Amino acid sequence: MLRRWTAAVAAVTLFGTLAACGSDDSAGGEPDGLTMGFAQVGAESGWRTANTKSVREAAQRAGVELKFSDAQQKQENQIKAIRSYVQQRVDVIAFSPVVETGWDTVLLEAQRADIPVILTDRAIDSEDDSLYETFLGSDFVAEGRKAGEWLLQETEGEDSVAVVELEGTTGAAPAIDRHTGFTEAIAGSGVEIIASQTGDFTRSGGKQVMEAFLKAHDDIDVVYAHNDDMGLGAIEAIEAAGLTPGEDIRIITVDAVRDGMQALADGKINFIVECNPLLGDQLMDLAERVVAGEEVPKRVVVEETTFTQEEARQALPDRQY
Ligand code: AHR
Repeated sequence: MLRRWTAAVAAVTLFGTLAACGSDDSAGGEPDGLTMGFAQVGAESGWRTANTKSVREAAQRAGVELKFSDAQQKQENQIKAIRSYVQQRVDVIAFSPVVETGWDTVLLEAQRADIPVILTDRAIDSEDDSLYETFLGSDFVAEGRKAGEWLLQETEGEDSVAVVELEGTTGAAPAIDRHTGFTEAIAGSGVEIIASQTGDFTRSGGKQVMEAFLKAHDDIDVVYAHNDDMGLGAIEAIEAAGLTPGEDIRIITVDAVRDGMQALADGKINFIVECNPLLGDQLMDLAERVVAGEEVPKRVVVEETTFTQEEARQALPDRQY
């Protein structure tokens, strides 16, 4: 049975103003498919840029009219965008939550309006899992674990290993989970996190925090950055301090976007755990099924790998993002 297939005509003009940057990707004329409101986190990283491109292109391929908003990493902007999509009576809302908590009220509004919600990329922390239909995204705890396990192998035989951690956005699922997975993996070993601070998933944030770490600690063996961008910022800070990234200080990151992979191939990063941003096609498929009233799995996990320096050299020529 068709769950929602609204024409979404009149309300669109009434509620066109979104909190941050909003846009409508329909090519003009009558949409031939469903209408999706997509509340994106922002444009904080290479990963996010690739994710946005994937969603936009997949919507076009699927004939989905995409109403897109960029929350500029602010939860209040995402909440306003979701409210606007409810008022516009879109067929489905998809969003990647900036942080894990604080969504129940607005998602209840969507539920009362009978508009299904799909979580993409990041999860929410709520006791009520009826507030969303499905969650499509990576297993961030597993990503953190892979980073920690590689480091344990790499440093086998070393008595103590001092790690500084560049954390993602405070309260965001990937920041919480990548820390959890990493600490689980290194528990009981000689590997120790000596300092941990957020760089907000940005290159400039990673650079700034790393500069402060280098001033405060002269015994840093390893940087564990929750994404490539912060790792790339850390490389700049390490080089500016007269040290050699990848040698004097080993670097582990998460994502495997092109710039990160290039730094890995060049020997400046030592290991990358992949986080796949190409979620667009799966998202459109899930949206169509949810709107059609089909049962979908509550959790869809994205398959991912890891890269050493040699593997990055081999993979780079075919890397899509
Ligand atoms: O939620 C996915 C994370 O968000 C990516 O690892 C990071 O680069 C992005 O900003």
